[in-house]
Parts: sequence; structure tokens; C-alpha cells
Amino acid sequence: MTSLNDDYSLLAPGPVNLHPEVRKALALPMIHHRTPEFDKILKRVLTNIKTVFQTEQDVYLLTSTGSGGMEALLVNVLSPGDHIIAIVSGKFGERWAEMAKTFGTDVSTIHVPWGEAVQVSEVETLLKKKPNTRAVLCQACETSTAVAHPIQELASLVKNYSETLFLVDGITALGAYPLPMDSWGIDGLVAGSQKAFMLPTGMAFISFSQKAWKFIETAQCPRFYFDVRKEKAANKNGETFFSSNVALVRALDVVLELIQTQGLTQLFHTIHRRAEFVRHFGQKLGFTLYSKSPSDSVTALQVPPQMDGQKIRLHLEQVHKITIMGGQDQAKGKIIRIGHMGYIQDEEQLRLIECLGHTLRHFDPDFMSLEHISNITQEAKNYLEQNP
Ligand SMILES: Cc1ncc(COP(=O)(O)O)c(C=O)c1O
Repeated sequence: MTSLNDDYSLLAPGPVNLHPEVRKALALPMIHHRTPEFDKILKRVLTNIKTVFQTEQDVYLLTSTGSGGMEALLVNVLSPGDHIIAIVSGKFGERWAEMAKTFGTDVSTIHVPWGEAVQVSEVETLLKKKPNTRAVLCQACETSTAVAHPIQELASLVKNYSETLFLVDGITALGAYPLPMDSWGIDGLVAGSQKAFMLPTGMAFISFSQKAWKFIETAQCPRFYFDVRKEKAANKNGETFFSSNVALVRALDVVLELIQTQGLTQLFHTIHRRAEFVRHFGQKLGFTLYSKSPSDSVTALQVPPQMDGQKIRLHLEQVHKITIMGGQDQAKGKIIRIGHMGYIQDEEQLRLIECLGHTLRHFDPDFMSLEHISNITQEAKNYLEQNP
């Protein structure tokens, strides 16, 4: 069976397979960013990207990876010495807490066991103790554990504290499942280009609520490249402050058009369907779900006890040309992680299940027979046909 992506499947939780139209846009000749031609594209992108953030606020385009966007959220609203609460449930929560400490804030960490979502009551208890908290930080999806945190409930909680902002890392969530910034009351939201926006790595997108803008003028953390005030002023004049990332912005224009055409509801459905499929047939193959609050953007499958997730990942890539991710730190070797964002065809989903079966059998021929793999693959095929 051939995949539609040149026989290679990038099923990682970012970067992801690119849509053919995006690949075409990336191959266009370069133009300068201070041209009427680019100005038109930028204007359209700055308007259309708000649909994905589900916000009336402006969204800013940063030429940096997602981590730069995480930094931008912090430095624009925080001052050294501010008390913040960081929810740490995996690698990316750790990174954000570390970043906040680097900028001299006073960080209280809520450590959540890997694979679990934060208890809203824990955050509430801490906020009651420290009502002067300036920000609560949380990943919408903690990619290292494939956990979706209860963002809506956390936002409702933080709304009660007039001096506290809720900053959300939506890098592996925005555009993959609902994260409506305005209606839920998220104060700072960051997304990354290489995830549900189906672009190469290299851009971050951020937005702030009106509540957050109150703090932007007075925040004292050092900021230069990520000073959102510069970007706001430049955007008002139809430009970006620094050189624009012409190639990615042009490709983003294509993606936003694709998203507008199908609508967010359909996009979320498509990604949810992929996640359901992998969760269902992953378990049929003998994996168990690692996350107790599974995200639709990425699935973490715990490998059977006698197997090594790192070896499974490598075999799948080297023999079957499918790239997925393994586990990190304490989950290394124990899990594999499969992304559901980007341009993924049903054939690739099916091939993934079939090849995972053969990979398990490669490491332990007694684990499953060829007939069993064939039966599961057939069942998976029927499932996809019956669940459009
Ligand atoms: C939830 C989350 N936050 C932050 C990042 C960091 O993004 P980047 O690697 O683009 O800096 C990632 C990357 O995978 C992520 O999944």
C-alpha cells in the first residue's frame, strides 16, 4: 500500500505531514516582505488566524519556534518577583516553569503525576492561599504525556481573580480541538506552526486578552525581540516589526483558507476521528492508553511490558518509513506517541496499525500471529469505512 506522502508518513505530534497545497506555496519564488503583494497576504492572515484562536483580539506572528511564543507570553505580562503558579505534568510544563524562573518570577509548581491531568481544586487551593498570584501557566495538551488538561474549568476559576492571568500553551492543541480563547476566558494563548497549523517548524502565534493588556504596559521582565507592543504598532501599519517570515506566512495563508473552507467543527472532527481510531486499534494490538485524560492531538500508547518503545519507534521508521515519537524522561522506552494533526490520509492510519502489528511481532513472534494482524487490519479498514 502506498502512502500519499511520497511513501513516508510523519505521524509525530509535530512536525507533521504537509498538505500538498502548502508544499506548493513553500516552493514559490521569494518576494520581499515590504511589498504590496505581501502586505495583502499578511492582512488576510492576521484576520483569518483569529478564527482558529476564536478571538476578537489581535493575534501576533512570531518568527521563532513555539518556545519563543511561550517566552513572549511570560515577558509581556510578568515582572521579576511576581508570584506565578506553574502546572507541571511533563516536559513542556517543566520548560515553562524553568523559563519563568529564569525571568526572576517566584514560581509555585503544582507537580502532576505523568499521564494525569491537573486537579482544578489544587489550583484553587493555591490561588486562595496566594490571591496576589499574577499568572497560572498550563499546557492545554502536555505533549510528552498526551494529556489534555481541563482548560475551560481552569479558565473559569482564574476569571474570579482580577489580578491573575491564565496563560495557556496551546502549541499541541490549538486547531486540533476546541480551545476558544474568548468564550473560555484565556488571557494569553500560544500556538506553534508545526502542529495543527500543518506548517514547517519556525513560527509561533500569540494572543492576549483585554485583561492581559492591562499588564503589558507595566510588565518589567526584560523584552526586546518578543515585545508585543512593537508588533502591535507594526501590524497597525500593515507590517511585521522584524523581517516577515514570508515563506511560512504565505503557507499559513493557504492553511487558513483550507481551515475556513472546511470549518473548525469539521477540522476538529477529522482529528478526533484519527485519535479515536488509534486509541481503539492501538489497544486491540496490545498497547494500553498512557494518558488518563487523552488528548485528541496526540496519543501515548504504553507498550507491552516485555517490549521497548524506543526500539519499536526506530523499527517503524527504518523498516516501514513511519515516524512516530517515543517517550521522554521517565516515560522513555515505556510509551510511543502518535500525532493526529496535519495532513493524514486514512491509508496512512491503516498502514500505521498494520505496521505496528508487524513491528510487535518482529520483537516477539509469539506476541501475535500474522493472522491476528491481518484480522485487526481488516477490522480497522471496516471501521474507517463505517465511521467517516
Ligand atoms: C506543548 C508544547 N509546548 C511547547 C513546545 C515547544 O515548541 P518548540 O519545539 O516549537 O519550541 C512543544 C513542542 O513540541 C509542545 O508540544
